[in-house]
Amino acid sequence: MSKQFDVIVIGGGPGGYVAAIRAAQLGFSTACIDEWKNDKGGPAPGGTCTNVGCIPSKALLQSSEHFEQANHHFAEHGISVKDLKMDVAKMIARKDTVVKQNNDGILYLFKKNKISFFHGRGSFAKAVEGGYEIKVAGASEEVLVGKHIIIATGSNARPLPGVAFDEENILSNDGALRIGALPKKLGLIGSGVIGLEMGSVWRRLGAEVTILEGLPTFLGGVDEQVAKEAMKVFTKQGLKIELGVQVGEIKSGKKGVSVAYTNAKGEAQTLDVDKLIVSIGRTPNTNGLEAQAVGLALDERGAIQVDGDCRTNLPNVWAVGDVVRGPMLAHKAEEEGVAVAERIAGQHGHVNFDTVPFVIYTSPEISWVGQNEQQLKAAGRAYKAGSFPFLANGRARALGDTTGFVKFLADATTDEILGVHIIGPQASELISEAVVAMEFKASAEDIARICHAHPSLSEATKEAALAVDKRTLNF
Ligand code: FAD
Ligand code: NAI
Repeated sequence: MSKQFDVIVIGGGPGGYVAAIRAAQLGFSTACIDEWKNDKGGPAPGGTCTNVGCIPSKALLQSSEHFEQANHHFAEHGISVKDLKMDVAKMIARKDTVVKQNNDGILYLFKKNKISFFHGRGSFAKAVEGGYEIKVAGASEEVLVGKHIIIATGSNARPLPGVAFDEENILSNDGALRIGALPKKLGLIGSGVIGLEMGSVWRRLGAEVTILEGLPTFLGGVDEQVAKEAMKVFTKQGLKIELGVQVGEIKSGKKGVSVAYTNAKGEAQTLDVDKLIVSIGRTPNTNGLEAQAVGLALDERGAIQVDGDCRTNLPNVWAVGDVVRGPMLAHKAEEEGVAVAERIAGQHGHVNFDTVPFVIYTSPEISWVGQNEQQLKAAGRAYKAGSFPFLANGRARALGDTTGFVKFLADATTDEILGVHIIGPQASELISEAVVAMEFKASAEDIARICHAHPSLSEATKEAALAVDKRTLNF
């Protein structure tokens, strides 16, 4: 006898588990199926984000930043540390504890919201009267029937063609978060978000880090001025970033990995490293979903085809998060999950893709929302720009971290904020004010007239808004 649900969510990452919670809050009988296993074979909901993405990477970034501070910056504060050591195994164990706390938190939320959780792989069996039959293959086999299906099956790391991840020498994000001892030399392919975050972790701990990037421009999607500053700072920190390379043969053996490549000048080069992280983007994951059993349409990238409201080509089948178009970000997946649950309930769930914030958790952090200067120029939009350096911010000086700036871009006529770009301390937190402002269609002057606490980094945001009208007070 099959178990019947109003809503079945396949995938328990940020898109899926949040969709399940919202559906349950709205009064639907809800099931969530997730196949992720912890090292004991038990359930580990939370998806890529919790297990091998956002959360563990931020745990390692925090540990390595503490080490960097103790190693290079405590002395400025009069603190001396003798015999500073890094216990990499302990750092990894702490990261694993943080991950487990998050897995357990999600299992608790399932219980609290009376969501039926199934540990195993969910796949489409067939369309049935009033819904879809979903098979669960796990410790036990189950057959569920749902009126509405939300697919949130996420994404997988993309390997280089012909170079499989062995997670020992050639690492995806999974292996990259489990490196057990400090590599002397670490190579990364791709200077995107993972390349920079993971490269920073191991550079701080003392590895010699080289990043090989295929494109001739660094952080092409980021405001040019911010990208330029970031390149300057990261290079000074010791990250070696080579742009415009073409990666050739990769040989992996007992002694490590050898990467043949051609540099931007067309010269043949070899990079020998102990470990190689390949971070060249991710591909949508529909493995094992049996999409064809019900005729679910995929696009040319293998993503599930959806409209702006996350509707697939099948009635009452929805898809959210990394498995559909749009930025592969946890908060974007969550917003889509909530909006879909609300649409199922006949409400008007909405995701504003124009105000999704982006953050790179390096040091300094980089964050932005809205359009950058090159996009506005390409669109022929008349705009005004204003920026303010953290060097002139009292709190940043007290923190001892004055790198970077806040930059506002506003419409030349109406002063509406079109984009905000930050490189500097706590940029991940500071960007929220800009997101709120843009959601409310604020002008730069609105921010400039709001009282900001002193001394705080957020005063740099206010000053950058004032700079749009060329009237900064402290610079
Ligand atoms: P996922 O999190 O991938 O979850 C999908 C889940 O579905 C998985 O648990 C999977 O096992 C399960 N599943 C798949 N198929 C089936 C099936 N057939 N049956 C049952 N279960 C199935 N984003 C940010 O916003 N901020 C960050 O700081 C950040 N850092 C990141 C760092 C790294 C190293 C990586 C790799 C990614 C990072 N991301 C970050 C991206 C973020 O992790 C993803 O955007 C997010 O996890 C997508 O959520 P999702 O729910 O769509 O998919
Ligand atoms: P990415 O898309 O950020 O960067 C990939 C980089 O690899 C690009 O610069 C690209 O030009 C380069 N590249 C592609 N093919 C190449 C090749 N053959 N040779 C050399 N370079 C090549 O992807 P990344 O870093 O793998 O991250 C995957 C996803 O995870 C991203 O979409 C991101 O949204 C998400 N993520 C988000 C984080 C955050 O929000 N802080 C942190 C980490 C990941």
